[in-house]
Amino acid sequence: MSAEIRTARASDIDALVALENAVFDSDRISRRSFRQLIERETAETLVAEKDGCLAGYAMVLFRKGIGVARLYSFAIGPGFAGMGLGRLLLERVERVSYDHGRMMLRLEVREDNARAISLYEQNGYRRIGREADYYEDGMAALRFEKTLRGDVPVGTRVPFYEQTCDFTCGPCCLMMAMANFDRSFVPDPIREIRLWREATTVFMMSGTGGCEPFGLGVAAYENGLSAELFVSFYGALFLQSVRSEEKRRVMELAQVDFRTRAEQYGIPVHYRSFSIDDVRAALAAGKLVVVLISGYLMFGKKVPHWVLAIGDDGTHILMHDPWIEDERRETMSDAANVPVPYDIFMQMAQFGRDGLRAAIILGKPDAP
Ligand SMILES: CC(C)(COP(=O)(O)OP(=O)(O)OC[C@H]1O[C@@H](n2cnc3c(N)ncnc32)[C@H](O)[C@@H]1OP(=O)(O)O)[C@@H](O)C(=O)NCCC(=O)NCCS
Repeated sequence: MSAEIRTARASDIDALVALENAVFDSDRISRRSFRQLIERETAETLVAEKDGCLAGYAMVLFRKGIGVARLYSFAIGPGFAGMGLGRLLLERVERVSYDHGRMMLRLEVREDNARAISLYEQNGYRRIGREADYYEDGMAALRFEKTLRGDVPVGTRVPFYEQTCDFTCGPCCLMMAMANFDRSFVPDPIREIRLWREATTVFMMSGTGGCEPFGLGVAAYENGLSAELFVSFYGALFLQSVRSEEKRRVMELAQVDFRTRAEQYGIPVHYRSFSIDDVRAALAAGKLVVVLISGYLMFGKKVPHWVLAIGDDGTHILMHDPWIEDERRETMSDAANVPVPYDIFMQMAQFGRDGLRAAIILGKPDAP
């Protein structure tokens, strides 16, 4: 099948309008909108040409300041359906979005559009939601998304480990680092829980106690790694939404203990926000960096979450995210060695109203 995929031009508009009318019965893009969207800097329209005819198009939107691209419209003309053009165009949209510095592609599709849904599912899109009464005729929309990875492979030198509890992200990052620096170490759920018990403040926010940076730094040190901390402000962490006095007291005491031990062990602590250059320098020196992020961009929830920065390709930080969300049908390819553009990485790497930035640089133990 020979088809050319290229960026749309103003001279394509007649053919685009004809295709739109042939394919869609409602929610059509008007001539005027096609013109505006083709000219818009924050949108890209691709057309598929076959034997000199415009066989299909796809339009993707790049809203400023977010890491997500949105497939706004996508159609293959009736005479060209079922030839693989849809798949080809979709792959090109993913590539263009990745090259635009996006880490996710999202789309909506009519719930009764089995054909498009099967194309998306076969191409690794996961269903993330449903919106009733979305289209003009009242039909519901299904929302799908895919993590974009360009040519970055899933496998790396740094072993990946999926967390088995929803509060053990930090300890799982530690285990991946331990397995990286000591090839005989094999992460398992028993060690996951043990490390969590070593690093947790017992309570956190509203749910089960996660881990804060000092606890992770101390646990890393006690388990044979070197640790260096960045914390953007001094004081007790993660207390904003903890209402119970008793929980606050326990968390504060646990944090005082971790800080004191970090000092005793001589773990360097920088009380400032880390920069992308700090992370890059650590990676260049062969270290790994556990970074606090907000789960918002990754899975739409404003929860604190730890991921492991494992590499740097000159434009992206490569990251192992121990959380694979089964409900969203994620697989390892959504979570292992994920390329995150620098600006999105820094946007993700802060938590809460105060914009807390925290990271733990891990390495082999310093020579005595
Ligand atoms: C959805 C659409 C873009 C697919 O384009 P296409 O070029 O026909 O798709 P391809 O030939 O690349 O086929 C890719 C996959 O689509 C699905 N598909 C294709 N023809 C199908 C059919 N007749 N019935 C069910 N699924 C079909 C299959 O999963 C196929 O993969 P396979 O060939 O490995 O089984 C096209 O049908 C279309 O334009 N539909 C109307 C507009 C639309 O629905 N747009 C999407 C809005 S979100």
